[in-house]
Amino acid sequence: MDSIIYLDHAATSWPKPPEVMEAMKLAMDEAGANPGRGSHRMAVNASRVLFNTRRALAQLFAVHNPNDIVLTSNTTEALNLAIKGYLNEGDHVIATMIEHNSVRRPLEYLKRTKGIRVDYISVDTEGEVNLKEVERAFNQNTRLVVCSHSSNLLGSILPIKEIGELAARYGAVLLVDAAQSAGMIPIDVVEMNIGMLAFPGHKGLLGPQGTGGLYIAPDIELKPLMHGGTGSQSNALEQPNIRPDRYEAGTPNTIGYAGLQAGVNKVLEWTPEKIYHHEWELAQQMMEGLSSIRGITILGPDLGKPRTGLVSFIAEEKDASELAFILDRKYGIAVRAGYHCTPLAHMAAGTENTGAVRASVGLWTTKKDIDSIVHAIAEIQS
Ligand SMILES: Cc1ncc(COP(=O)(O)O)c(C=O)c1O
Repeated sequence: MDSIIYLDHAATSWPKPPEVMEAMKLAMDEAGANPGRGSHRMAVNASRVLFNTRRALAQLFAVHNPNDIVLTSNTTEALNLAIKGYLNEGDHVIATMIEHNSVRRPLEYLKRTKGIRVDYISVDTEGEVNLKEVERAFNQNTRLVVCSHSSNLLGSILPIKEIGELAARYGAVLLVDAAQSAGMIPIDVVEMNIGMLAFPGHKGLLGPQGTGGLYIAPDIELKPLMHGGTGSQSNALEQPNIRPDRYEAGTPNTIGYAGLQAGVNKVLEWTPEKIYHHEWELAQQMMEGLSSIRGITILGPDLGKPRTGLVSFIAEEKDASELAFILDRKYGIAVRAGYHCTPLAHMAAGTENTGAVRASVGLWTTKKDIDSIVHAIAEIQS
């Protein structure tokens, strides 16, 4: 790859650590068989890969039993399994205005087809929720609270522990969309009252694309999204009741999960606390630089406040896509522009007609990279 300043980590992290690529190569060579479907040594190696991946994830999220983690192909699949598997006709759901379409579309689908009811709690222009408003939304049919841990447009971080306490008090389950937080903000599913946690493997956990997962608390029962072969209870017509088999039909992405395991081990080594600090500092540097440029408006929490490592902004008299195009072609800087699959968050930020440019940092991003984007934007605006 020609030199590129990659500031699109919120979409998927790049490059992956060398250990991830080595683990995938090793798995291809030594664990390339079908896990759980045979007792020969390579099938056993493949099963071990999946078990060790679950174990590393369990350590990261303080999950007691690794088998409560279902491996999926991305966050979207995990969210669909959680939402469609848990909700029934007539249920009431509380969500927020920062939800991604991976939450909103399954909810809206169930609204149309199953008559569920959904309240989207408003957020302010910085993407923060008011807990009193969340509490007021509960009623006797509320079974689920779905909440993005962090906005993929604004970078704001929601008070998950407090929302989890409210959900527990009103007898509802909390489902957290950790697409923008897993690996980058510490998560403890027990301490935070999280009933289900949907996460990507390919963003903050540094694994390859095609990986993700869903933690399901032991007392939560879901309808499987997929029915099919699991390698277990082959004579039964029903999907097996044992975890994780119940929710994992078909041949899995063993090679990808080998990479994910290596990525999670890297995160455990660096720790989410340190990664958060690194990314927060870079985001602050970018905000400081951009705020001194004429015509640039930065979205999300103000300087000095908690936020993840993404900074979205709009430029007066310049289309977001045009700006991203110039950054790529003239300066070799990769950012994302447009609507970021989160229309309600754009409404909260007042950017529903403009979209926004989003620059997001990762583990390898340096202060020099931030200087480069600030300098490029200043030149484009002058
Ligand atoms: C907040 C949020 N939720 C869900 C998703 C979907 O993630 P995936 O691409 O892993 O399905 C994204 C992707 O960017 C996201 O930012």
